[in-house]
Parts: sequence; C-alpha cells; structure tokens
Amino acid sequence: MSGLNPGPIGVFDSGYGGLTILSEIKKKLPQYDYIYFGDNSRAPYGSRSFDVVYEFTKEAVEILFSKGCNLVILACNTASAKALRTIQQNDLPKINPQKRVLGVIRPTVEVIGQITQSKHIGVVGTAGTIQSGSYPIEVKKLYPEIEVTGEPCPMWVPLVENNEFESEGADYFIKKNLNQLFLKDPLIDSIILGCTHYPLLLDKIKKYAPQGVNVIPQGHYVAESLADYLLRHPKMEQNCTKGGNTEYYTTEAAEKFKESASIFLNEEINPKRYILDK
Ligand code: DGL
Repeated sequence: MSGLNPGPIGVFDSGYGGLTILSEIKKKLPQYDYIYFGDNSRAPYGSRSFDVVYEFTKEAVEILFSKGCNLVILACNTASAKALRTIQQNDLPKINPQKRVLGVIRPTVEVIGQITQSKHIGVVGTAGTIQSGSYPIEVKKLYPEIEVTGEPCPMWVPLVENNEFESEGADYFIKKNLNQLFLKDPLIDSIILGCTHYPLLLDKIKKYAPQGVNVIPQGHYVAESLADYLLRHPKMEQNCTKGGNTEYYTTEAAEKFKESASIFLNEEINPKRYILDK
C-alpha cells in the first residue's frame, strides 16, 4: 500500500469499555503495536445524539490517524452504530482513502446464527445502540429468520464507569432490564452484550438471565474477525507495526484512567492525557 507509513492499530472507545475488546485483541494478536484512545472526559456516549456521537468519533479517528494508525477499530457499539458508516463512506475517501476504520457490530452478528437454536435473540446495549436499530438491521442481512429484541440499559455503563459494577445497584438494574427483555420475548435463548462495557457485568447478567440462556460478550469475536481481516488484507497487515507495545491515551486525567483501567486489564499501564481542542 503505497503512501502509508507502517503504524500501530488504533482502538477507540468513549471510555474504558473498549479495553475489554483490546485485551481480547492483544491475546489473539500480541505481535502488533496498539494505541488505545478513551474519550473518558466526554463519556458516556450512550445517550448522546447521532450528530454528537459522529462528531466525537470522527475526531477520535483523526487523532488516532495523526498518531500514525492506519487501521482503527471502533471498540464501541454506540460509535459503531452511529458513526461507522458515515466515516467509512463519506470521510475516509477525503481523509485518506487507504486508511481503514472497522466496528464491532458486524463481527458479533456474524456468529449469532451458529449460537441460537430458538432463532430468537436479545441485544442489550446503550439507548443509542438499541434506538439505532443497527443490530436488527445487520442480523436481518445475514439471518433473516432470526428475531431480534433489543433492550436499552442506560444505567449499566455509568455503573461500570463509576466502579459500581459489583454493587447492589448493579443487581437492581440488571435484573430489571433482563426482566423487561424476557417479557418482550420469552423465546430468547441468546443475549448479545452489545456494549463493550458489559463484560464487567457478566457474572450478574448470567445470574439474572433465565437458565440455559447464552450470554455473549463480543471481544473474542472481534479479535477473531480482526485476525481474519489482516489475513485477507496483506497490504494493510504490512502497514501494522509489530513491536508488541501498547500506548494509552485518555481525554480525562491520566491518573484516573490508570486506576480504573486496572479493573479491565491485568497489566500496569502508563496512560497519557490527550487534551482536546475544545
Ligand atoms: N462502550 C460503549 C459501547 O460499546 C458505550 C459507552 C457509552 O455509553 O459511552 O456502546
């Protein structure tokens, strides 16, 4: 791919949630360099409008490009639902047609056909992700026979971002949202965790989901899909540097990020603060 200088793979989320994706990606593909960018000062994105999520996500992608990334993963369902398509179709051709941005929804949806028996699935996510209809739209393209029911869970991300994911408050909201989901469709046999923050709530989600229901975090599938993408795109693969290093940037205070990120990662990190222009 002429015109590109090799660089790290960028991973973006509104906050900490994308770290659940990054850690799976690093497990699968430890040889590459990564830059994680968390827009913690403006998280959560879940209840923000389309325009604002798009604007913030585009800004983050441009920051990651300016740091040398040629390939950026939107490790955030809200950003994937509300900004990915516009960035791919309208912005990339202008910014740099050789660079690429990928999301987390498609890789998750691809596997669901092999998991559900009842052909009734549930998706839990932020209000933005559920209202966007992105999951039902993508599922219908691949598996028209599957019935998709979404449940917005607006309190789940704040519980995680505020370190309250083991509290009784978390039990209350998880039970409440899952009850609502199964009231809408009792035939659901698989639930997609359509938000990268939710793996931290996995134990409680399993506790309050009916017995035998599959609860599906997406990190593993996103990592598999990225590995496959790099195999199918050798020129992009050659433009990803291989030093096994990860840098972390946050738009909030570095110390705060370091402390909370340790909940998501099993390693010591030295994040840097990125100061946004506005
Ligand atoms: N982690 C993001 C997602 O996967 C949502 C977090 C937020 O609301 O900012 O949707």
